[in-house]
Amino acid sequence: MSRWRQETRERARQIMARYPQKRSAVMPLLYLAMAEDGYLTEEGMAEVAELVGITPAQVLAAASFYTMYKREPVGRYLITCCTSISCMLLGADDVLHALEDAAGVPHGETDAEGVISVEHAECIGACGGAPALQVNYELIESITPDKARELVQWLRSAHPEVVGTDELQNLFGGSPSFDWAIREDFGAIGPYPAFSPLGTAAPVGGEE
Ligand code: FES
Repeated sequence: MSRWRQETRERARQIMARYPQKRSAVMPLLYLAMAEDGYLTEEGMAEVAELVGITPAQVLAAASFYTMYKREPVGRYLITCCTSISCMLLGADDVLHALEDAAGVPHGETDAEGVISVEHAECIGACGGAPALQVNYELIESITPDKARELVQWLRSAHPEVVGTDELQNLFGGSPSFDWAIREDFGAIGPYPAFSPLGTAAPVGGEE
């Protein structure tokens, strides 16, 4: 008996229909499972296994390989600070320390309220806008230690339902690496990537 909401089961069905073999849908379904439970639970992985007809161990093999599948609870806002070479050369260590200080936890941990998690990561693909970080995988380029502190305070006080790159960049970023041009319509609703077709995103600024 599925624990998932009817709409989630329907999205899962639509995703699986895109693939010749159901098991190829494991990775997007894992994000759906995270959106259902807030992180990737044993029950969520079992649900995915059941849906695509493989064993829970096979699902775990995929889930445990990728760092974006969180198998422990994380905060409402997951801040991922890149510390790879381009960002490191432009002050990423100072940004990370500012985040840790403002959040009151070392990287890899979540504050006592379950609001902010801080982690560091290898290159997040924004080297031209280094140093860069993400909030729930929404990007901010050319961040500074002071802006990183402001970001943590803002997340705690504003508690935004949806976070989107455009707003984050305007509030806390410096110069973006290029003119992004296209307005962002969807943002992240939790500590997992925002994919509107998967139902893991919501319109930025409310219903359209
Ligand atoms: S090195 Fe930080 S985004 Fe590539």
